[in-house]
Formats: sequence, C-alpha cells, structure tokens
Amino acid sequence: MERIIAPSVLSADFEHLGRDVEMITRSAAEWVHVDVMDGVFVPNISFGFPVLKAIRRATSKVVDVHLMITEPERYVARFAHDGADWVTFHYEATQEVEHCIHLIRESGAKVGISIKPKTPVEVLRPLLKEVDMVLIMSVEPGFGGQTFMSESLDRIGALRRMAEELNPALLIEVDGGISSANAAQLYEAGANVLVAGSSVFKAEHPEDEIDKMLHA
Ligand code: DX5
Ligand code: ZN
Repeated sequence: MERIIAPSVLSADFEHLGRDVEMITRSAAEWVHVDVMDGVFVPNISFGFPVLKAIRRATSKVVDVHLMITEPERYVARFAHDGADWVTFHYEATQEVEHCIHLIRESGAKVGISIKPKTPVEVLRPLLKEVDMVLIMSVEPGFGGQTFMSESLDRIGALRRMAEELNPALLIEVDGGISSANAAQLYEAGANVLVAGSSVFKAEHPEDEIDKMLHA
C-alpha cells in the first residue's frame, strides 16, 4: 500500500518558515500538511490564506490543507484557489457535508473528510464513495504535541475494511501524536498518510525522522 509522510508546519519555527518548508521539500516527505484553525471549531487559531500562499510558492510538494474551521463550505473553494492540492474538512463542522464535497470537487482539489476521535467511523459509510481520503484524528484537534490515542488503531482498521468494500482507492490519513515509534502499527492497521508535527520538527535530524517514519 502507498505510504506518504505529511509533516505538519504547525510545529515549524514561524520565524524561519521558509527554511522549514525547504527541509520538507528536500526530504522524503511527499506532502506538506497545513493546519487551519478558526478558534471556533477548535480552541486555537493558527493561520490562514497568506501563510498558505507563501507555502505554495515555496514548495513543489503536494499541499494538504486540514481545515479545523466551522462552516467550511464558506471557504473551501478559496483554499483550493490559494494553493491546496487536497482540502480536508471536518464532518462535525458543517450541516452541508455533501455540498462541501461538491464545492471542493468543483474547485479541482482532491476531497478529504475528517472525524474527531469520538465520532463513530460508521457515519462515513454513505460518503465513502464520494471522497478521496478520510483523515482520522488520533488526538482531539487543536494543538500539536499531544499523545496518540491508541484506540485510533481499531478505528483505522474498521475504516479500511469499509473502504475495501466501497472505495478501495481511498487514502486513510492519520493525524496526532505520530512518530517513527508508532508508524509501523498505523500502516499495519491500514493507514497510508501519516501526519507528523512535533516528532519531525523537534527531532535533531528532521529528515532522518521522516525517513524512519516512511520505512517503519
Ligand atoms: C492538530 C493538528 C495536527 C498537528 C499534529 O489538531 O491537526 O496536524 O500538527 O501535531 P503532532 O504531530 O505534534 O501531534
Ligand atoms: Zn492536521
């Protein structure tokens, strides 16, 4: 199965964002994960369009935008326009899930949908054929540096079984508390895309940590 590492710039040094994005560009990571938080859907505010545009200009890697914002339907097209190759929104953040999927599709970006740790995987069954990726949160969204919730492994397994039946090409991305220490278990459970913030940016040699995660 395909394996992709997506370092999260939420843990980058914003005083030297260009340098940190260059590191990702040099590394074996194929994606750059961009966490957008609005202070309403999650109790934290990160950054928005100007930072996304700067990252887009700085790298040729795939830009993976994770929207932790309420009513994402208001902004998904603009994120695609400003450089997102993938736009992922939260199932819990909108009354208009189908409309959101449609708007992202129309914008030309790939479609991702995310669920928080307490949302049952089953809610995604009717949507699985319509999306390209599901992002399983393995911590409560809002902050980097939290501990991986081990019950996520069963959720990934259940989702992979559902996908085998309904959408075999589905990518499963996992986000929160991931490092080279638990990457192997995640692949084994059925994940393809591993997001990693603090484990990469706090490592003495970030590119080596990325390699270790990829080949775990
Ligand atoms: C958290 C964000 C994550 C965050 C992960 O809400 O969605 O992408 O950057 O950080 P770590 O890898 O430190 O748990
Ligand atoms: Zn994220």
